[in-house]
Amino acid sequence: MSSAGDADGFPCSRWHLGLDAVNAPVKVRPLVDDDVPAAQEVAHSALREAGKRYGWTMPELDEVTRARGEQRIRHCLAHDPDGAFVADVAGEVVGVGLATVRTNQWFLSLLTISTALQGQGAGRQLLEATMGTLRGPGAICASDDPKALRRYRSAGFALQPTYEAKGALDRSRLPRVTGVREGSYDGDRDLVEEVGTALRKAPHGPDMDFYAEGGLPLYVTDTPAGRGYVLCRDAGPSLLGATTEEAASRLLWTALAETTEDEVTVAWLTSNQQWALDVVLDAHLALRPRGSRCLRGDLGPMAPYIPNGALG
Ligand SMILES: CC(C)(COP(=O)(O)OP(=O)(O)OC[C@H]1O[C@@H](n2cnc3c(N)ncnc32)[C@H](O)[C@@H]1OP(=O)(O)O)[C@@H](O)C(=O)NCCC(=O)NCCS
Repeated sequence: MSSAGDADGFPCSRWHLGLDAVNAPVKVRPLVDDDVPAAQEVAHSALREAGKRYGWTMPELDEVTRARGEQRIRHCLAHDPDGAFVADVAGEVVGVGLATVRTNQWFLSLLTISTALQGQGAGRQLLEATMGTLRGPGAICASDDPKALRRYRSAGFALQPTYEAKGALDRSRLPRVTGVREGSYDGDRDLVEEVGTALRKAPHGPDMDFYAEGGLPLYVTDTPAGRGYVLCRDAGPSLLGATTEEAASRLLWTALAETTEDEVTVAWLTSNQQWALDVVLDAHLALRPRGSRCLRGDLGPMAPYIPNGALG
């Protein structure tokens, strides 16, 4: 494919940039704290526009969404500065790439290029920069943008399609769940990290502090039938790991019961998570292919597991 633009025919122009930037090359450089607001705007706008074309919806960029996005970028910058880069045209941020490493497990947290500059090779440069910290296994929760899938496969990742379940939750379908209790980020840290490390060969480490600061409710189970944890958002589970499918199913039902939004979502379900497909189908959510998991090397069993799309 040529680098002349987006094969969908979307105009690749620099009309939105300042005069100096019209002919300036794209430079990839380390992200610094001052870049964070611009990086967040670029990322949200690129994902929103791509969503319109490839079929997903981004939340409105209100104060809460903006603050959460900036916190996520700052979290990656604080703990993984060597994996944090921006694409810059004449001093203007036009792209952002963030990768984390936990033990030796690499995860691509974010990769976006301004819509008008996509399909011209900047994403490749940015991905290569973030991959500077990839020394072992790696994973990505990928969007349905075909340019992203092309980039990730070209970079040596195996592509696995994922399912997403969505819909209004009929609460009369919720079973009575036993053996799950509200967890504490301090008191249940060992449980979470033991189970998480067995699943993904790496602890969540500082990401648990990020989830705690974000106020995500944590639920845990620790019974002879299995151990595990789930982090809940208003619209569905944000991260789930367990030692058995039975424990995982109880945790997923708990996360569904904890939702407060009209529409709930359970995302990133690979084909080895049939237990989760059974739960969401029992809940009468609508299942459809959405996104991909991109994997490189031995990441551990990763099942029963629902990754966090931003931090793995
Ligand atoms: C994904 C993204 C970061 C890639 O950045 P980019 O600058 O567009 O990528 P590049 O130009 O380096 O590479 C795109 C590749 O796809 C090809 N391509 C361009 N348009 C395409 C299309 N419509 N369908 C398939 N491939 C296409 C290009 O030719 C290029 O491949 P090549 O280098 O082998 O020739 C960028 O497109 C983006 O921000 N998309 C929206 C946000 C998003 O979904 N991010 C991914 C989150 S996981």
